[in-house]
Amino acid sequence: MSTPKSIIISSDHADIKLRQTIAAHVEAQGHTVLDIGPTTSESTHYPKHGQAAAARVASGEFELGILLCGTGQGIMMAANKVEGIRCGVCSDTFSARMIRQHNDANMLSMGARVIGEGIALDIVDAFLSADFEGGRHATRVAMIEGESAV
Ligand code: RB5
Repeated sequence: MSTPKSIIISSDHADIKLRQTIAAHVEAQGHTVLDIGPTTSESTHYPKHGQAAAARVASGEFELGILLCGTGQGIMMAANKVEGIRCGVCSDTFSARMIRQHNDANMLSMGARVIGEGIALDIVDAFLSADFEGGRHATRVAMIEGESAV
């Protein structure tokens, strides 16, 4: 069980049910969750859903965000266009933990057509229970955020 956090979750049409399962799982662990849809499986455009969630993380309204699309890749790319967002795609728990600890990722993306429900929930747990370590990693994250890296 991790410290309660405010989480926003969204997806495209790739797997509405998995997104809702993740939202319920996260809420059952004591986190505050806002699921911003979409609510139907009608084909839609992942950038608008990814960026809608990302904007609300970047503004500080939510601490962390969770995204899903077919591969997790497109919606991650869209989210990362929002200033202040650091979103990584994860298909394993080690990466999910490390993007929090080392990269201070504030959004997690997953591929609903890549992984199953069991590993998706474990990935979410790993992401939500890890904290940024700071130190040398803070220097590197600052470089991502615009300090000259070369
Ligand atoms: C939608 O068919 C699919 O392209 C999308 O979910 C995602 O995989 C894009 O990166």
